[in-house]
Amino acid sequence: MDIKTLSKKVKPIEIIVSIIFFIFSSYIFYIYKIDLSLLLILFIIIVFNNFLKNEKTVSLLDFYLLATFAILAILIFSLFFGKNFLIPTISFSLLITTLFSSLELSLIFSLFVVLLEVTIIKETLDFGIILFTVSFIVALFSLSIRRRFQIIKAALIGGIVCFFLFLFLRLNSFVSLIQIINFLKNCFIESILASIIVIGVLPICELIFRVTTNISLLELSDINHPLLKRLILEAPGTYQHSLVVANLSEAAAEAIGANMFLARVGAYYHDIGKILKSEYFVENIVGYKDVHKNLKPSMSKLIIINHVKDGIELAKKYHLNPKIIDFIAQHHGRTLVYFFYQKAKELEPQVTLEEEYRYPGPKPQSPEVAIVSLADTIEALSRTFDEPTPSRIEEMVKDVIKKRFLEGELDESKLTLRDLEKITQSFIRMLNALFHTRINYPKNEDRNQKSTKNSKTQS
Ligand SMILES: [Fe+2]
Ligand SMILES: [Fe+2]
Repeated sequence: MDIKTLSKKVKPIEIIVSIIFFIFSSYIFYIYKIDLSLLLILFIIIVFNNFLKNEKTVSLLDFYLLATFAILAILIFSLFFGKNFLIPTISFSLLITTLFSSLELSLIFSLFVVLLEVTIIKETLDFGIILFTVSFIVALFSLSIRRRFQIIKAALIGGIVCFFLFLFLRLNSFVSLIQIINFLKNCFIESILASIIVIGVLPICELIFRVTTNISLLELSDINHPLLKRLILEAPGTYQHSLVVANLSEAAAEAIGANMFLARVGAYYHDIGKILKSEYFVENIVGYKDVHKNLKPSMSKLIIINHVKDGIELAKKYHLNPKIIDFIAQHHGRTLVYFFYQKAKELEPQVTLEEEYRYPGPKPQSPEVAIVSLADTIEALSRTFDEPTPSRIEEMVKDVIKKRFLEGELDESKLTLRDLEKITQSFIRMLNALFHTRINYPKNEDRNQKSTKNSKTQS
């Protein structure tokens, strides 16, 4: 990375916080007579993690916050519990992996935590190796955590690994069988305590670091969630639309290595604002009744655009995670409500301003939101097809993505051209699979024709 790119990445606030953190750590390390070279290692780790690697996992400020928290937690812990470092070791490994879903970040941070622990209690290298191995195993088992009991499971595995490593590497420090049994008991209790601490602090950490863990996402994806239940009952067409958008988005997110689970759950909630006036949205209109017929285009536009604002308000009322609210707020970006803009322009060409028929934004700020935004349009257009052939699907998908890119709607989403190519291919594949199953059953022809007719009215 050249200096120019590096300097663009570092903000003045980050430099100020870096200096404050350096002074704070030096002071703490000086008081506790910790080797200052450890601080140097920490800085190398931070530089490695934030400047040379991608920024997706954690921001520099959050990394400092975590490091400060770790220093304080370990110092306080050592004052009360001496050498029993299993709880902080397991807790930090579990917490970092569950929060940021990154094995790399978790290992870097665990290395720092273990070095700090070993230096504080002036232990030997083998002690550090045991603790680091425990962190590594716990991190491995925490990567795919989606339920709370899996946190307890990962912590217990860490406790068992710790017991056996101590038994093999430090057998001579145990003088009796009772001592070994007591040590096993301690490992068990400490690992359970570590998991309870993590379960307790996870919701707070999600708020502080503005991240959504898989555990929260799983809770949100449950159709028994009161907001999803309302969507199913009050806007069934929108719910069906959201399900297809979710499938398209999940596959595309997987193709580019983005958070596929976040994309799926974000898609479930992106249109919840439609619940309040569901009958005005095309996917919920039954038969050929046109509710917009007697409305001015400006009024129709207002109702359509307001589903974003209504969605944000509903989401706040139901205490949805800010990451999910981003999908609601950004999925239309600054796009134009084209149909009603055209209608208004036909009626009043002099006074109709394009600006007034645009969604207020902001544009998608993350790859996951951008994917849902694209899948949203592609799903709606795909329902207008009478005879969906692979070439027509391909043409439509490429058209939508190209147009969105040229309009600058994806400028703030951090998607690269290579990502867009992968997303395009993923959407084409998924839509072809979707239509293939519909076309390939001649016996269902009548039913398919009916559903195609239906789709036309919904789009
Ligand atoms: Fe929408
Ligand atoms: Fe939508």
